[in-house]
Amino acid sequence: MTRKPRIAVILGSTRDSRFGAKPAEWILAQARARGDWEVDLVDLKEYDLPLFNEMASNAWMPSSDPRATAWQETIASYDGYIFVVAEYNRSITGALKNALDQAYVDWNRKAFGVVGYGALGAARAVEHLRTIGIELQMASTRSGVHIAGADFFAVHPLGQQNKPMSAIEGTIGASANTMLAELDWWTRATMAARTDAQAKAA
Ligand SMILES: Cc1cc2nc3c(=O)[nH]c(=O)nc-3n(C[C@H](O)[C@H](O)[C@H](O)COP(=O)(O)O)c2cc1C
Repeated sequence: MTRKPRIAVILGSTRDSRFGAKPAEWILAQARARGDWEVDLVDLKEYDLPLFNEMASNAWMPSSDPRATAWQETIASYDGYIFVVAEYNRSITGALKNALDQAYVDWNRKAFGVVGYGALGAARAVEHLRTIGIELQMASTRSGVHIAGADFFAVHPLGQQNKPMSAIEGTIGASANTMLAELDWWTRATMAARTDAQAKAA
């Protein structure tokens, strides 16, 4: 029997006062509620990743820093990813970019979806992330969850409302279901293709 896909929800903002944990916990619960995946939260704040300091990416040679190789092993153990994306100056956080750069082969031929948040739902950061994903040989879902405008300020503590995520499920719930369904399709397709390629190479 085919095993369940393993999905990592990657929380990409690391500052002490971050908001990102709130949407990350929410999408983690949505993803687990499907019942047909194994889903973990991978919080960059809990990884002792240095700024990238290798001779090359691990596409070309093994990394030397054990913190980088430990991160690569974590990434390699998943079949797909949901990036929880803050928008910093119209792009992804430096922490997330560094974490992406610290692996290469471990991301290859795998799928990802996104949950972005910000005034414009992190739309610009998400598009940057998708371009990075092309170089990492990843497949992005078409649909993403964008927590934007009034929804963002309703759930963000600085918006002075700090409502629970359930307060905006009416507007973001459908896009979450669509993104998760697309991620399921691409994750299973890439899992099957990787297995096929491994069998042919053996
Ligand atoms: C350095 C920095 C740059 C930011 N740039 C943007 C931006 O370009 N677009 C936007 O919508 N919000 C921007 N914001 C506001 C963030 O959307 C908001 O602070 C959000 O909570 C950041 O995510 P975090 O709390 O998980 O770190 C920026 C915030 C910071 C700290």
